[in-house]
Amino acid sequence: MDTMDKRTIPQLREMKEKGEKIACLTAYDYLTAHLLDKAGIDLILVGDSGAMVFAGHETTLPINMDQIIYHTQAVARGVKKSLLIADMPFLSYQVSTEEAVRNAGRCMKEANADGVKLEGSAPVLETVHRLVTIGIPVMGHIGLTPQSIRSLGGYPLRGKRPEEAEALKQEARALEEAGAFSIVLEKIPADLAAEISKMLTIPTIGIGAGPQCDGQILVTHDMLGMFEAFKPKFVRRYAELGKSIEDAVRDYVRDVKTTEYPDKSESY
Ligand code: KIV
Repeated sequence: MDTMDKRTIPQLREMKEKGEKIACLTAYDYLTAHLLDKAGIDLILVGDSGAMVFAGHETTLPINMDQIIYHTQAVARGVKKSLLIADMPFLSYQVSTEEAVRNAGRCMKEANADGVKLEGSAPVLETVHRLVTIGIPVMGHIGLTPQSIRSLGGYPLRGKRPEEAEALKQEARALEEAGAFSIVLEKIPADLAAEISKMLTIPTIGIGAGPQCDGQILVTHDMLGMFEAFKPKFVRRYAELGKSIEDAVRDYVRDVKTTEYPDKSESY
């Protein structure tokens, strides 16, 4: 990426055409966004996963529109080059297209997002089309859709049975036709993800969907080894920050208690 360039939506498709993989991560705060941006990440998602890893909820369902706006505003202050996508919270886009337009519009107007992401296919196609036609870029998300956790009964692998795989292919095709600029494929078999990626002209971004997607996304707290509640097989840990933070804090506590800290050089 040219150091002066800010990523654009059309560039993602060009990257797919050239076979250049798209690297994406999540962020919910300014400092993390600044570091990801500096390290060359192509796309930052202000995910509704923030409900879990930032706010400590058990699912992504509780996060609301004002909270996504707040987090996206903070992340936007740290972003110079990455594409910035805001995740639409549960029930912020399903009630009516009108409400979805208003909420997605807030992400762009109030939080400087470059686009929004929403989950599902058939029930949201009309909304996707409407958002795209008024200039709001939309990223789809199919396969394992965490906002449906209550109906799915957990976080199962999707698309294993032939009928389910066929349905996912149709969902992907329909989202592309509705105007989505990209689709997240979550926790589906690698062969199916490869087939969908080949079939579409828009880039697919995989999470637990094998190596042949056009790009990959992970929750940053997972890949940095900070979120210990569960570790799906598809997460590769690139650091053990959770352990580093705990060790550093233990050392600090010890030094304060023993008056090792502060010393003369750290005093006025
Ligand atoms: O909320 C989120 O972080 C997501 C990604 C992991 C795709 O939806």
